[in-house]
Amino acid sequence: MKHLIELKNLYKIYQMGSETVHALDGISLTIDPGEFVAIVGQSGSGKSTAMNIIGCLDVPTSGTYHLGGVDVSTMDDDQQAEIRNKMLGFIFQQYNLIPKLNVLENVELPLLYAGLSSSERRQRALAALERVGLSDKCKNLPSQLSGGQQQRVSIARALAGKPSVILADEPTGALDSRTGREVLGFLKKLNQEGDTVVLITHDNSIAVQAKRIVRLQDGKIIYDGDASDPRAVVQPTVSGDLEPLEGFGEEARA
Ligand SMILES: Nc1ncnc2c1ncn2[C@@H]1O[C@H](COP(=O)(O)OP(=O)(O)OP(=O)(O)O)[C@@H](O)[C@H]1O
Ligand SMILES: [Mg+2]
Repeated sequence: MKHLIELKNLYKIYQMGSETVHALDGISLTIDPGEFVAIVGQSGSGKSTAMNIIGCLDVPTSGTYHLGGVDVSTMDDDQQAEIRNKMLGFIFQQYNLIPKLNVLENVELPLLYAGLSSSERRQRALAALERVGLSDKCKNLPSQLSGGQQQRVSIARALAGKPSVILADEPTGALDSRTGREVLGFLKKLNQEGDTVVLITHDNSIAVQAKRIVRLQDGKIIYDGDASDPRAVVQPTVSGDLEPLEGFGEEARA
């Protein structure tokens, strides 16, 4: 079977003067259509580096990355931009909405760059806003929306491009916990409707809502499996024992 995402023995190495940093240290990972994967790990573990490579914003030092069966690990900038437009939808911590454009125009903008006709743009943008429950806010400016609503606009903007994969880097990072859960609820709904979602978070209470957790530590995968497995939210201590991660209580799992 052909995987949607396939990373093979991937390295990203930075040379900082005399110091060598292995931001990704030999990662192999496959993701299939319809999955909901959370990539987790402590600060500096390599999450953003992995996301940038999966998102075709960066290339690995060595190893291969196939997206939709195509080797994208050696592509130049233009080729990467093209495959990003075609296959990927991004959701960031900052919503990156354009303040002077209304909600509908914000969602339509990337479709303009993709070269779609104005009627196709309008139709896709309206459908995407409908999916996130914001049809009635089309004419509002971003500043007239709550943080959670603004993030939903950015989700609609990602959806309008009909991506094969939705990549969300700390999408709840700027939101209070209740609004964060709401936005996460949307990502879950999209996944239930068939979308493939890859979520990056350092928050275990968010990560356990995915179906699968991939945990990074020092650029290596130290857990890859079911999000409901207790081992998904513990990390080995130096002595090899398992201990719950900080900030992860019963309340978080509820
Ligand atoms: N451009 C760069 N040049 C040199 N080192 C880098 C660069 N980008 C990342 N690194 C290093 O690679 C490692 C992984 O960084 P990365 O940004 O992927 O971590 P992260 O898991 O996203 O952390 P955080 O949760 O803090 O965002 C870190 O040690 C970081 O210092
Ligand atoms: Mg990061």
